[in-house]
Amino acid sequence: MTGSGGEDLLAATQTEGDVARASGDVVLEVADLTVGFPGDDGFVRAVRGVSYQLRRGEVLGIVGESGSGKSVTSMAVMGLLPGSAKVSGSVRFGEQELLGASDAALTKIRGRRIAMIFQDPMTSLNPVYTVGYQIAEAVRAHHDVSKDAALQRAGELLEIVRIPNARERLNSYPHELSGGMRQRVVIAIAMANDPDVIIADEPTTALDVTVQAQIMDALDTARRETGAAMVLITHDLGVIAGQADRVMVMYAGKLVESGSADDVFYTPRMPYTLGLLGSLPRLDRPSERLTPIPGAPPSLVNMPPGCPFTPRCPLAQEVCDEVEPPLAPATGPDHTAACHFSGELAGAEPGQLFGTHVTDAAALAEFVRETTDHDDTRTDTQDQHS
Ligand SMILES: Nc1ncnc2c1ncn2[C@@H]1O[C@H](COP(=O)(O)OP(=O)(O)OP(=O)(O)O)[C@@H](O)[C@H]1O
Ligand SMILES: [Mg+2]
Repeated sequence: MTGSGGEDLLAATQTEGDVARASGDVVLEVADLTVGFPGDDGFVRAVRGVSYQLRRGEVLGIVGESGSGKSVTSMAVMGLLPGSAKVSGSVRFGEQELLGASDAALTKIRGRRIAMIFQDPMTSLNPVYTVGYQIAEAVRAHHDVSKDAALQRAGELLEIVRIPNARERLNSYPHELSGGMRQRVVIAIAMANDPDVIIADEPTTALDVTVQAQIMDALDTARRETGAAMVLITHDLGVIAGQADRVMVMYAGKLVESGSADDVFYTPRMPYTLGLLGSLPRLDRPSERLTPIPGAPPSLVNMPPGCPFTPRCPLAQEVCDEVEPPLAPATGPDHTAACHFSGELAGAEPGQLFGTHVTDAAALAEFVRETTDHDDTRTDTQDQHS
């Protein structure tokens, strides 16, 4: 396992991330995290060298299609992977290394310092206790208060996450609540724990659109009340638009683009990100056809060399089959993208890219010339998300 010590820091080139870490602003630091699962068909390379820093109070969105390694990355952070998983790299929570930490050490952190909110709230709730009891227990784990006072606080927390008739609901069992209400109870428990980090993994995926918005509001309230930093995991870029300060895009177990929300939404530099943006409905152009990304993500067993997005990428050239591009600076040091042609993507629009198919170098040059001719993309996409 590796971790960056203070001395290393002084020697390193000072990027924005280094400065944040040195000033104690980094609450969670994942470095070169790799996770694999031995299986009958071969070794599943679920997470391949993921690194990120989560700064105090920020919202980091992690987005990618099903199977891209989003959940496995977070389960590794929480120490919740099955024993068969092969894990390497480093996960530091403040000064503490979490990879390889004892169960006793992790129990002190899980739920309390790092709260986890899953897609299915029943994963976190105990069916045989009332929701009031479960929230009150979390309150009492942190504050030396009477049972009555803890229950009183549980009622307040249910009001904060906007459960109707909150006080009466304290006596309900989880199965007596709707899915949206259960998710709010889980958020209330997270708040009672007053965590430093909240990891929300597809917290709204099972819910209808109206309830989704309410849960996002409740999460935002929880974040502001506790001051926690949040990792928000979703397959839908639309969910994190307007919520995330920074966005990381995952594909086939790797980060393929990372930057501020503005970088990723307005000046994407990896074709896959453009693909995700192109499959997002646009409020400013409701009649425009969505452009889905054709094809499916690759198998993570016996991965061929080269960029895993190649078979689906309209820009793919020979080099893409041979060399997997590293995450490299795109429009600035804190905006990185993994694409041999990321420089050529300036001004490309999502629909445009996936509407075309660039078959050779001459066609690529033509595509680039056409797409860089217009420079109003930024305003266009900005309208979409504002
Ligand atoms: N316990 C396990 N054993 C073997 N393979 C696993 C295990 N858990 C996850 N995987 C594999 O790891 C890869 C990444 O899975 P992960 O759950 O992280 O995807 P995800 O990005 O969260 O997808 P989704 O959007 O569907 O939740 C998948 O190919 C999955 O099949
Ligand atoms: Mg998942």
